[in-house]
Amino acid sequence: SDERSLVLIKPDAVRRGLVGEVIGRLERKGLSIEAMVLRTMDGQLADAHYAEHLDKPFYPPLRQFMTAGPLVAMVVAGDQVIEVVRALVGATDGRRAAAGTIRGDLSLSNRENLVHASDSADSAKREIALWFPELG
Ligand code: CMP
Repeated sequence: SDERSLVLIKPDAVRRGLVGEVIGRLERKGLSIEAMVLRTMDGQLADAHYAEHLDKPFYPPLRQFMTAGPLVAMVVAGDQVIEVVRALVGATDGRRAAAGTIRGDLSLSNRENLVHASDSADSAKREIALWFPELG
């Protein structure tokens, strides 16, 4: 059944000119884009978006990276989109992500890993409300 996922094309992807590459992969899979914006995250939004990671040792540099430049936030929709997008994105660490995935093909980092995608229906709902409150 149709669901929604919040996808962030992170600042490393924008800086590297990979926005079209990432969107193209989602589009070619057959997913649809319901909302999209280029935006620079501030620290307050970063802390809300990554609430579950605030106490992790990797959070301070992650926050610095995610707020340092513009990213593309989007709501993507389609059949089982949360699981489908995570399969396209690949494992967190680009060095270990499978070839054929976005991270596996294009990232060598576990921080600068190009894309964020909601990991569950609850996360998607929470994240979409943060980034696109007008979508309800
Ligand atoms: P993301 O899917 O946005 O969710 C949390 C982010 O934290 C993750 O992608 C990475 O960018 C980052 N991250 C997760 N684990 C680590 C780690 N061990 N070291 C550095 N960054 C990490």
